[in-house]
Amino acid sequence: MKPVKITEGVYSLRVNHFNRRLFDSLIPLPQGTSYNAYLVKGTEKTALLDSADPEKAAVLFDYLKDEGKIDYIVSHHAEQDHSGSIPLVLERYPAAKVVTNPKCKEFLMSHLHLPADKFIEVMDGEILQLGGKTLEFIYTPWVHWPETMCTYLREDKCLFSCDFFGAHLAAGELFSEEHLVYEPMKRYFAEIMMPFRSNIKGHLEKLGKYGIAFIMPSHGPVHRNVKFVLDIYRDWAVSAPKNKAVIVYISMHGSTYMLVNRLVSRLEEAGVEVEKLNLDQFDEGRVAMALVDAATIVVGTPTVLTGPHPKAIYAACLANLLRPKAKFVSVIGSFAWGGRAVETIAGLIPNLKAEVLKPVMVKGQPAEADLAQIDELAALIAEKHKTLAA
Ligand code: FEO
Repeated sequence: MKPVKITEGVYSLRVNHFNRRLFDSLIPLPQGTSYNAYLVKGTEKTALLDSADPEKAAVLFDYLKDEGKIDYIVSHHAEQDHSGSIPLVLERYPAAKVVTNPKCKEFLMSHLHLPADKFIEVMDGEILQLGGKTLEFIYTPWVHWPETMCTYLREDKCLFSCDFFGAHLAAGELFSEEHLVYEPMKRYFAEIMMPFRSNIKGHLEKLGKYGIAFIMPSHGPVHRNVKFVLDIYRDWAVSAPKNKAVIVYISMHGSTYMLVNRLVSRLEEAGVEVEKLNLDQFDEGRVAMALVDAATIVVGTPTVLTGPHPKAIYAACLANLLRPKAKFVSVIGSFAWGGRAVETIAGLIPNLKAEVLKPVMVKGQPAEADLAQIDELAALIAEKHKTLAA
């Protein structure tokens, strides 16, 4: 494969992984993913920015087969999907130095056993000259590890952002198109970035000082529509949640399903957007994406023996891990003879800074009085949502 020219002296070495089906052994990848490295060639020095997952190292080396020398390997992030092939690159180019921040150096030494003398440490704002190409390093910690950083190529206004602004999308096209990249970016944001929204807010302000012509992430296509990318990140990370409720549910004999359907109907009648997700077909990515902008999360669960259904427990744990910006939560469901489903779910979501709205737990099949409680819950959610913009 040949490096793909993006602009003069800047090349994409995208390693597509079309048939990868899970990321982090957690999030389904309906469109695969990619690990992107980039080459920046100055008149004096050549830098490789990031590498690839070692499972796909052969593709990276195919790109590099005609590359006589690499002087620097810039590592933005120590996670192995970007750094895992660095030891192999160093074997091929033993004179190369790994350029990174001190925290990333520490991680690369512990995760990949790289020796200390292979590194050049750079500070926030420091520059590295390649000859007509100036790399500026921008610390952007916690997107999504503590050592993450970006590189800005001054002459060409390229931002190499690694995971930041990435998309789970294996694609042949070099540049992103908005309608194709939106959902893969949201799926990526939901799993990886959502817990770090406050950090992202600060980084978006910091990056606002740079004129950016290209955003070059290490997953998915290159972005030329920089405003589109920054706007959706502001929406997901900074904006208030939307007038939307997510109902994640599972039902054993249909009673919880009746409650869920009643709640959906009443919420929609009240003008609340609803996303209803059956945990029987659990897609962690779909659940995570739904959580990005919802103001309310409702867990619908029957009582299995003495507690919530295990799939409802898993969904609650996932939501707690991802720390969505929801303001309200509730639990609805049915039980046969007793149990502590509500208390168990409530105990699983301490990270959610959300008000708990009165749960509705019903003995057996819902009667009219039970459905009336659902109507009250729907009315309360709709009323609460009127305060969102305040
Ligand atoms: Fe794409 Fe955090 O690695």
